[in-house]
Amino acid sequence: MTPGTYYIETYGCQMNVHDSEIMSALMESIDFSLTTDEKTADVVIINTCAIRGKSQHKVYSALGRFRQTRKNNPNLVIVVAGCVAQQEREALLKKSELVDLVLGTHQIAELPVMVEKIRRERVRITKTDFSRDVQSLGIKGVHPKKNQVCSFLTIMQGCSNFCSYCVVPFTRGPEQSRPLDEILEEAHWLVSNGIKEITLLGQNVNAYGLDLGSRGAGFCTLLESLNNIIGLQRIRFTTSHPKDFDENVIDAMASMDKVCEHIHLPIQSGSDSILESMRRKYTKSEYFSKIEALRDKLPGAAITTDIIVGFPGETEQDFRDTISTLDQIKYDQIFSFKYSVRPRTAAETFPDHVSEDIKKDRLAQVHELQDKITSEYHKSMEASTVEVLVEKDPSGPSGQASGRTRTNKIVNFESPITDLVGLTVKVRILEGLKHSLRGKLLQESLNKKSI
Ligand code: SAH
Ligand code: SF4
Ligand code: F3S
Repeated sequence: MTPGTYYIETYGCQMNVHDSEIMSALMESIDFSLTTDEKTADVVIINTCAIRGKSQHKVYSALGRFRQTRKNNPNLVIVVAGCVAQQEREALLKKSELVDLVLGTHQIAELPVMVEKIRRERVRITKTDFSRDVQSLGIKGVHPKKNQVCSFLTIMQGCSNFCSYCVVPFTRGPEQSRPLDEILEEAHWLVSNGIKEITLLGQNVNAYGLDLGSRGAGFCTLLESLNNIIGLQRIRFTTSHPKDFDENVIDAMASMDKVCEHIHLPIQSGSDSILESMRRKYTKSEYFSKIEALRDKLPGAAITTDIIVGFPGETEQDFRDTISTLDQIKYDQIFSFKYSVRPRTAAETFPDHVSEDIKKDRLAQVHELQDKITSEYHKSMEASTVEVLVEKDPSGPSGQASGRTRTNKIVNFESPITDLVGLTVKVRILEGLKHSLRGKLLQESLNKKSI
């Protein structure tokens, strides 16, 4: 059968974004080409997220959109991948007659073979087994595109923490680290293909290698090896769990020139009793001492976090503790969510679920406070000069280029000069906006060759 086009739609976290990159590469390996026109595609891939009820429902509205496409093209193959696929398994085939392939999170590598089989035989398939062999998880590098500067690199799969609200251990399986040499090989390959910034991915990156026992190296050893790669400019990592984020990681961040001054350290709640029932395995004061140590050794570091409001049993006082935590730590940015009950998680059966109205109100209060804090940070940066790794060349009528600071702030800036992608340039900040900074290229920085 002749190859055709594929359309891919992605929900969820960076890990899912990276899985979609891998699936795209796999489709291209069997000569399918990407289309942005979902109505004419021969294969549609929906890469799903199950983290909250709302994320999960998106798959059904997406499927609804493809009902007519299938009528117009009975040969259309519809694949549901990602965490909803893993969670629902064969039930998804029953829930929607539109689905041809349910592809679990450990089965990505099977995509090309399954697509070809379905196109030939019009069978419906569920592939959702968990693999015990990290090598066969389908994780592999994706060839960087032209002008691509930043890349993800998966260092571990899954999570064994079982926070009481979270589906990830069920949808991604237990923590499994990739061998160090395999990661380094991929990093070298990315850099030799033009990548300047690598973001290490895992649900709990600071626990890297612990599951490998004596055969493995730890997270700091991994950072050290990556820091030695010539041509690589920046190293980021996400996500850190506060229980595994320690002085060693802080020292590594402070001493290694390529490791960026940004940490995403989800606190979830500012109340000890809620942290305990969330099974987060740290107290508020332990968390605070880590932040103190970080600010002590890396005063300019940006700190971001995740917050859940309305966890079962969260009283007004518990919520006030979260608000005062935000006020005290003053994060650069936060991601905040209303608690959403998830199947199979421990909190599903907890008593005292908080009403939707209260959750809504608490989330609004969190937003209001954090917007103020983020805006103040961004305003305080006006008139300063920052270092930006350029990711996009100037485009549009005003010639806006863009990139990020080492502290992960997005900077859009005017530049009369093109061909800046991949260079580190100096930008004068003109305006601090809510989610980004606006600036102007300092051309002298180019002339003086300080790039
Ligand atoms: N591994 C990361 C988080 C992955 S999920 C960590 O441990 O921090 C991303 C965020 O989604 C979580 O940090 C949490 O804030 C939020 N989240 C997870 N489950 C949730 C649920 N059931 N309801 C609301 N938010 C949730
Ligand atoms: Fe979910 Fe907790 Fe694992 Fe993060 S550490 S993925 S919140 S179970
Ligand atoms: Fe969503 Fe799965 Fe990521 S549930 S947040 S896509 S690990």
